Amino acid sequence: MKYNIAVIPGDGIGPEITAEAVKVLEAVGEKFGHEFRFAYADMGGCAVDKHGVPLPEETVAVCKASDGVLLGAVGGPKWDKLPGHLRPETGLLGIRSALGLFANLRPAKLFGELAAACPLKPEIAGGGFDIMIVRELTGGIYFGERGRETDANGMESAFDTERYSAYEIERVGRAAFRLAQAKRLCSVDKANVLETSRLWREVMHRLKEEYPDVEYSDMLVDNAAMQLVRDPKQFDVIVTSNMFGDILSDEAAMLTGSIGMLPSASLGSGTFGLYEPIHGSAPDIAGQNRANPAAMILSAAMLLRISLGLSGEAAAVEHAVSEAFAKGFRTADIMSEGCVLLGTSEMGNAIAASINT
Ligand code: IPM
Ligand code: MG
Repeated sequence: MKYNIAVIPGDGIGPEITAEAVKVLEAVGEKFGHEFRFAYADMGGCAVDKHGVPLPEETVAVCKASDGVLLGAVGGPKWDKLPGHLRPETGLLGIRSALGLFANLRPAKLFGELAAACPLKPEIAGGGFDIMIVRELTGGIYFGERGRETDANGMESAFDTERYSAYEIERVGRAAFRLAQAKRLCSVDKANVLETSRLWREVMHRLKEEYPDVEYSDMLVDNAAMQLVRDPKQFDVIVTSNMFGDILSDEAAMLTGSIGMLPSASLGSGTFGLYEPIHGSAPDIAGQNRANPAAMILSAAMLLRISLGLSGEAAAVEHAVSEAFAKGFRTADIMSEGCVLLGTSEMGNAIAASINT
């Protein structure tokens, strides 16, 4: 079969890690007899430099013409002083919104081989955990009205608004309930303070009647932040708003040993999706062949499974990642005693080689 994959390398370590994901997909193509055609597009700071905008229309078109999108990361100090509409991050929010990708799946799974890199005590994390965070991605405070005002005395103020419609909550809620069949679903909000959270909770409670197979609970976000480190095994699926999901997924990522480990899939109502690691562009280590490509490669595995329906191939990629760890290969972020330190491209080689065997 032939598949069209859009690749947006972006800024910082983005180009290095996407190159490794492409390498691994090529190994998959060879082994399983698929042809992957990669179409590259610019977004983020590099797009500002080249095209004057963080999200060129051409990039949206390339994505729309593809079966799925691989995205590295965007942003960096070079573009931090630009006005909001030109910031690289605006390109990222723009593409999520332009492609209608309202459900962001962020699986935080502790690989057995990386137990030593997990910051939790063995009695808490022992035996591993496997949490799926479903983050609402195209609404809430990220997309609400914002601005600045100066009053008569010259005092400056700024505001950002959180708004959610019942429709926006329901569609991401359904995505989460479907993933939580026969499992536990915890909806995280701040319903003791925020009106948007009170509507969120009402909608989730309506939905839970339709999904009797799901063991549903609510949790306030401050408590959820604490419970994640106190007892991560209590969670199967978490569903939450855009900003809470942003914050809790970084916390969950660290529990897996490194933020360099967590992939993500951003989906709309069908199988089309955009796949990106949850970490950023890490400008401090960019261009040094030091970044961990695992989150990006595991994102490519999600693309294979969800957008292309190639679950065997996806499992082969995930297995190859575990196998590289089992052989003792580590990037700097997850290095531990007695292991072999590899650079970004050597880790990609190791994973690709294990697919071929
Ligand atoms: C993420 C990132 C982005 C977000 C930034 C770069 C805008 O932190 O994907 O989690 O907040 O969504
Ligand atoms: Mg984030």
